[in-house]
Amino acid sequence: ASATKTRSITTMATVTEEEECMGNVKAQLAKLFEASLRVTIPNEPDVEPLVAACGGKFGDYQCNNAMGLWSKIKGKGTQFRGPPAVGEAIKNNLPSSEMIESCSVAGPGFVNVVLSKNWMAKSIQKMLIEGIDTWAPMPPVKTAVVDFSSPNVAKEMHVGHLRSTIIGDTLARMLEFSKVEVLRRNHVGDWGTQFGMLIEFLFEKFPNFEDITEAAIGDLQAFYKASKQRFDADPAFKQRAQQAVVRLQGGEDKYRRAWAKICEISRTEFHKVYQRLAVHLEEKGESFYNPYIPGVIDALTKQGLVEESQGARVIFIEGINIPLIVVKSDGGFNYASTDMTALWYRLNEEKAEWIIYVTDVGQQQHFDMVFKAAKRAGWLPQGDSSYPKASHVSFGLVLGEDGKRFRTRNTEVVRLVDLLDEAKSRSKAVLIERGKGEEWTEEEIESTAEAVGYGAVKYADLKNNRLTNYTFNFDQMLNDKGNTAVYLLYAHARICSIIRKSGTDIEELKNKGTVVLGHKDERDLGLHLLQFAEVVEEAFTNLLPNVLCDYLYNLSEIFSKFYSNPECKVIGSDVETSRLLLCEATAVVMRKCFNLLGITPIYKI
Ligand code: ARG
Repeated sequence: ASATKTRSITTMATVTEEEECMGNVKAQLAKLFEASLRVTIPNEPDVEPLVAACGGKFGDYQCNNAMGLWSKIKGKGTQFRGPPAVGEAIKNNLPSSEMIESCSVAGPGFVNVVLSKNWMAKSIQKMLIEGIDTWAPMPPVKTAVVDFSSPNVAKEMHVGHLRSTIIGDTLARMLEFSKVEVLRRNHVGDWGTQFGMLIEFLFEKFPNFEDITEAAIGDLQAFYKASKQRFDADPAFKQRAQQAVVRLQGGEDKYRRAWAKICEISRTEFHKVYQRLAVHLEEKGESFYNPYIPGVIDALTKQGLVEESQGARVIFIEGINIPLIVVKSDGGFNYASTDMTALWYRLNEEKAEWIIYVTDVGQQQHFDMVFKAAKRAGWLPQGDSSYPKASHVSFGLVLGEDGKRFRTRNTEVVRLVDLLDEAKSRSKAVLIERGKGEEWTEEEIESTAEAVGYGAVKYADLKNNRLTNYTFNFDQMLNDKGNTAVYLLYAHARICSIIRKSGTDIEELKNKGTVVLGHKDERDLGLHLLQFAEVVEEAFTNLLPNVLCDYLYNLSEIFSKFYSNPECKVIGSDVETSRLLLCEATAVVMRKCFNLLGITPIYKI
């Protein structure tokens, strides 16, 4: 997974002491196996160790290299008799490590590893003392762009944009956690011919420029619709609108100012959503890349990539029967010209090594073509296994109860702000119903209702594999049982309350007490905690936030198995300290998961 580091194993079957993958058990084991493989089969120096958690009765992890190696070496005078013998040798050549309690070989050479309980306990305690950041995965690159949310000015910001905002934010957070510098880009649709009609309509309604305010315009979407109607109905208006585009693109001051005003009003709208979701984005809209387009198209033309086709200038792409149009037949630029240019800018000016685009699945072909054109131009390497890399993170639809595209009763599209309002007010109603109105301050009620309501909306989206369509259902997402944010947030709050009720100073305990994993349920919990880093790494490597949601849900299930087992009584047991520390470690890891998913934790309920 690490493209930036070269592994430095000097002597055979020893591993150099590096702080490299501190919290990542799988990566640490992989290093041990890598060392062993070099000794076992010296003629095959580039074999990647295949290590995975297995959770079976034979061990916690398994190394799966024996069969593959066997097929490489058999018939070449090897001393081994078959895969099990290779597995046996891999096992015997493993450098000794305090991580490992025992190893065994099973079946066709699988090497099973049982982790040492002592080492596991020590690692958890170390994390508690030094903080969860020490469990961050290795950064795959130094700098990445995540292009997400990206609504269009004056047009609707729909549920698809909500999905993009939520998914993009999570991916950005996971990369940031592993210390990647992430450029969070809002590729706002702020350029195009629709601005001609918008501006002309604006001038018609407000002869005085000063009168153009957000309040005066009201709903920008309605304004857009009205201007479109005017455009379709009145040929004279249509002509003026078309001239307006030319004047805007020519940089005429009055037109530029009107355009800026419309963008500003739109921006204020978008901001309300971002603020509620606590999502941070930096706007570099389509217009930003405009000045760079001619240069980029020129360069591509000089490379011989741009051809003439039916009056337009296009890039042909192998295997796709329609070409990528980069200059329209009227000489204008389009969505694709901007995206080619934005990609060029991100690679060359911003030095991004990984560029991630989050949009609905409908844009898959567009990005496929853009990336392939970039490969033809030599901007990106062929294949997808090396950096710099561009990835399209696509997602399915949000459906309503009727199985059709999600809409609210009265409007054609769902207004995101309304959706969030409803999630919050429903959560608040539940809190009041539970009598929190008497117990808590108004502020506590508000912030809890927001954490639960917005968290529920986000989690309902993120827990699904992003490619599947999902049904938007308030009752389901706000259920306090099952795989929902509400259940998880409450579970976390309950752990916090166990610790509070114990009356101990948990900060002091971290340094003074000792973690032991005596009972099976304790060990299971400990193992799951230790798998946090590798799960985060898997989630961002495959760009699948649901992997982290599954982990979080399992964590809370495993915790509850431990906690509800009478043999694992916490308060009053003779290993109370250790069990409290396990509670705390669970809470810390849960909080980090919430944080990576963009969900605000709650501490009491
Ligand atoms: N504005 C576009 C839309 O609403 C999404 C832009 C995605 N990003 C990009 N670089 N094309 O569909």
